[in-house]
Amino acid sequence: MKIAVLGHGTVGSGVCEILWNKKSEVSSAAGKPVELGYVLDIKDLGSVPYSEEFTKDFSAILSDPEVGTVAECIGGLEPAYSYIKSALENGKNAVTSNKELVAEKGAELLSIARAHNVNFLFEASVGGGIPLIRPLYTSLNAAGITEISGILNGTTNYILTKMFRFGEDYSDALSDAQKLGYAESDPSADVLGWDSCRKIAILSSLVWGRTLKPSEIPTEGIDKITAEDVKTAEQCGFSIKLLARAKLLSGGKIFAKVSPALVKNGSPLSTVSDVFNAVLIKAETTGEVLFYGKGAGKMPTASSVIADIIEAEKLDENIKSLFWEDGAQSVFAGTDSAAKKYFIRTDSDVSAIIPKAEKLSENAFLTPAMTESEISVLEEKINEHGKLLSKIPVYE
Ligand code: HSE
Repeated sequence: MKIAVLGHGTVGSGVCEILWNKKSEVSSAAGKPVELGYVLDIKDLGSVPYSEEFTKDFSAILSDPEVGTVAECIGGLEPAYSYIKSALENGKNAVTSNKELVAEKGAELLSIARAHNVNFLFEASVGGGIPLIRPLYTSLNAAGITEISGILNGTTNYILTKMFRFGEDYSDALSDAQKLGYAESDPSADVLGWDSCRKIAILSSLVWGRTLKPSEIPTEGIDKITAEDVKTAEQCGFSIKLLARAKLLSGGKIFAKVSPALVKNGSPLSTVSDVFNAVLIKAETTGEVLFYGKGAGKMPTASSVIADIIEAEKLDENIKSLFWEDGAQSVFAGTDSAAKKYFIRTDSDVSAIIPKAEKLSENAFLTPAMTESEISVLEEKINEHGKLLSKIPVYE
């Protein structure tokens, strides 16, 4: 069968290179001949060995009966959504690395795939090269998952690692991440937490069966984290990570949040550095399960797209356990009632108004465990006496 790769950017070019250079390995894994048939992009490909496969015409792909799978690596909602929808409706499998598309349109595209007995697969959309999505709907499908916590964005983890290890400036670390091909074309999706938000929305929808909309998830990025926060946290035995969390509450509602968090040195997530991602799953039957690997970058992400192409070409029917639905009502629980400690940094010593605070340095404190409404009240009180510079929850 022929594979059509849509988009020849960082990930798409990696997928083309693997299909071109490892045609026999991919075919043998799929159990049938599989080859690169089309590469669609708005720009010319330049000098690549597969330049003859170049097209700008999606209808040529759609009308070619030899195309079995379309691999979308364009990113963003359009035209990716329209291309995938038409491919599925025309009886072709679709695989994608596009988290925005899966988070927003996953339920609809899975349902179209099911109606046409083909597959819509998206291993590369979360965790880059980590095999994560497939184990969740196969091995852990009946494990009773109750909580998901993860470092889901390689770019921000790379930036925070550089700030932590070398006291590097935020903007220098960001430009390095862009040069290495980790960052999104608009890096605000990374640094403001939207990319992590989309990824935790996908994991939550997949695991608990109903769409959790990214727009409902409170999301904070790393753009306000200063070198001073990182240094103070480090001196007190913590690192700062951008964490995405989702948990199942009693009654079936989900609480999810993306925010920077203090992680105690030595705990599994604290050792996740550079572009690496990790996802810690808590489940009734298995207890904790940790997934770890490169969460961004050309070849790790392309490798997950290739795994989906192989899976799609191998299967003759729709995977029944890979499915979620848009519910009539939101599954999002407005607040989390669990109390947590907060790292507080102020412009003056306000210890007198933080009862039982642990003083970390002259103007930095760890509060006792507090609910979200208690910390809001404290925040107002602190601002009456001085200025709150940072407020970061502690992950436990
Ligand atoms: N910009 C994303 C990241 C790419 O840094 O994690 C992988 O999804």
